[in-house]
Amino acid sequence: MSTTLITNIGELTTIDPDGRVLREAAVVVEHDRIAWIGPAAEAPAADQRVDAGGRAMLPGWVDSHTHLVFAGDRSAEFEARMAGQSYAAGGINVTTEATRAAGDGELTTLVAGRVRDALRGGTTYMETKTGYGLDVDEEARHARVAAEQVDTVTFLGAHLVPQGVDADTYVDLVRGPMLQAALPYVQWADVFCETGAFDADQSRAVLAACAEAGLGLRVHGNQLGQGPGVQVAVEAGAASVDHVNYLTNADVDLLAGTWENWDHQAVSGTAGTVATCLPACDLSTRQPLAPGTELLEAGVEIALASNCNPGTSYTTSMNFNVTTAVLQMHLTLAQALRAATLGGAIALGVQDEVGSIEVGKRADLHLLDAPAAIHLAYRPGMPLTHSVWRAGRQVWSAPH
Ligand code: NIG
Repeated sequence: MSTTLITNIGELTTIDPDGRVLREAAVVVEHDRIAWIGPAAEAPAADQRVDAGGRAMLPGWVDSHTHLVFAGDRSAEFEARMAGQSYAAGGINVTTEATRAAGDGELTTLVAGRVRDALRGGTTYMETKTGYGLDVDEEARHARVAAEQVDTVTFLGAHLVPQGVDADTYVDLVRGPMLQAALPYVQWADVFCETGAFDADQSRAVLAACAEAGLGLRVHGNQLGQGPGVQVAVEAGAASVDHVNYLTNADVDLLAGTWENWDHQAVSGTAGTVATCLPACDLSTRQPLAPGTELLEAGVEIALASNCNPGTSYTTSMNFNVTTAVLQMHLTLAQALRAATLGGAIALGVQDEVGSIEVGKRADLHLLDAPAAIHLAYRPGMPLTHSVWRAGRQVWSAPH
């Protein structure tokens, strides 16, 4: 099996249980796995050698919340919002119409372009959702297109009740034939539990059917105001509740309670409900940023994700989200890096496979064009992704 030595790494942020940051380090990749990590001076010989030029290396980003399957344009809605209008979930209908009108080829090309952009920004493991189909055939088609392009797919038939459809009739459709049609392509189910989307009982009904069908659960909750999202997620044993902008103390306590049998340092035990923070979305919707530091202090695992979608966060840039988490959410660099890698992996249940640079894990590596990872926040908006390896293969190197 072929081996590659990546040496002369100026700073290697491992996100391992000891939170090690190594200087003058090297990594050996064997096939698709990390085979060795340590001081460059002690590195074993390998078939190929890559000189990292003193740059900083991180695990590839794990983006645990995106909505990549969409067509159409909502820039006018965004512009109106920047002029003072507030975000309303109803915009989802606009995208639904445009996405239904796009053929398989167009949709595949659109999703592939977004995945490519994400990869070029250091994202090596991606989740994406359906949710702009909102009928049986379209949700299944979007799930199929998504499954061809990303690592794991979430069924979000319960994104919005489409125009002209009775809500209870729609919930029955989602938890019945729509779920069955999407099932071959998805591993997760999600529900938008929010005023204007699905209430607590409707959300519970959808989640129960999806759990019964064997899917892992997640919830969009507490995005636009206080509400039952966190409670519904915790009751259902969801792997994550995403957005979490408006939390009461009771919500934070509920989430913290789910992590009582988890060792944060060893990354072992029974995982609770991850609070997924989406800072690019918060800026784009002018919502308060999620209380990441408060959640961490309470003992909740958090993730950072891009939430790429045409309504509230048209970016796959995890670099930007990490920058924002440090500058605006006041996370330390170490907290932000962990949330955008291992945190996302825990939210997706793949923490044994990806999310850190440890021997035996998939070789998903992100080399920055900077000597230290703090440059992500220190030089906001600069194109800092130099090279990316996914499963041991170099998939991107920025032109210099
Ligand atoms: O995560 N919250 C619901 N879904 C998306 C927005 C979808 C849209 O407006 O198109 C989100 O922000």
